[in-house]
Amino acid sequence: MEEKIKSFLKEIKESSINNEEDAENFRLKYLSKKGVITSLFEEFKTLPPELRKSTGKALNELKQAAEQKLAEAKVIGQQPSAISHQLTDLSLPADPFTLGSRHPISIVKKQMTDIFTKIGFVVSEGPEIEDDWHNFGALNFPPNHPARDMQDTFFIESEGGVPEWLLRTHTSSVQVRVMENQKPPIRTISPGRVYRNETISARAHCQFHQVEGLYIDEGVSFADLKQTLYYFVAEMFGEKIEIRFRPSFFPFTEPSAEMDISCIICEGKGCPVCKYSGWVEILGCGMVHPNVLDNCKIDSNKYTGFAFGMGVERIAMLKFRIGDLRLFFENDMRFLSQFKSVL
Ligand code: DAH
Repeated sequence: MEEKIKSFLKEIKESSINNEEDAENFRLKYLSKKGVITSLFEEFKTLPPELRKSTGKALNELKQAAEQKLAEAKVIGQQPSAISHQLTDLSLPADPFTLGSRHPISIVKKQMTDIFTKIGFVVSEGPEIEDDWHNFGALNFPPNHPARDMQDTFFIESEGGVPEWLLRTHTSSVQVRVMENQKPPIRTISPGRVYRNETISARAHCQFHQVEGLYIDEGVSFADLKQTLYYFVAEMFGEKIEIRFRPSFFPFTEPSAEMDISCIICEGKGCPVCKYSGWVEILGCGMVHPNVLDNCKIDSNKYTGFAFGMGVERIAMLKFRIGDLRLFFENDMRFLSQFKSVL
């Protein structure tokens, strides 16, 4: 029997396994239940005891040799070149690895918050699903007042049919929440998403982003508002850009204004972006209405404050010279991948 084992050992060592089929045939011949090695073990049981020690050792070695041969063939087999005999070209460039980039709205939102946090404004956030009080009531929009129509609202129907909840139409709702929960001095900005029931076009969307600003303390004046916004514009668009204020109306501020900047595209000479006026509107602002302070339990005889709110998309469109607002929401990679270098 030892002779037989020796010749099988030689055979195993010399056999070549080049592909999966060879490997399977090898396994069937030597290592399967009906294979050579199993039958040798059967035969081993019939040997007289004095022969068992050396034959058993040889038989174990034979089994190990077969298993090792098969395992080695499998490791090599995992490399395609061993089976298909194709060579891997190590000089080929690696698979392209594309880095993502921030969304332009995130980039601009971050720039805006950085500019304000540098001068002491603290970021605060609030819910996108709001109640009437925080979005309208506390901000001095009386019930049924036409000013509510300034912002087309998505109301959320409640069981009784009376809308209790809505998607916030502006981030001014966050200033109410901050004033309700903090004591002056308050200096905060609130970036966030807002919703309006508007027809989608190149200049309007049913969702967009705003940054709201609020500063309340003793003796805060319109001059502080002007200087703060002037600083913002200089940081965002450069010192050459001019600003101007036009009287306006918001229920929550008195006096109210809208602020324009000199057109950054034509530098005031007149172009389609500024509709040949040389000016582009970027925000609404004003001195916080005493009713709003009182609604939030802040003493309007002692404190005054300013507030402003602006659209992030509007700023991003000017900054990156983008003509169509819809691009921000379509997630077209050809558009988004252009902001890689900005980060
Ligand atoms: N909430 C206004 C809007 O969405 C923007 C705004 C105007 C915010 C004046 C203010 C403000 O804080 O004082 O149109």
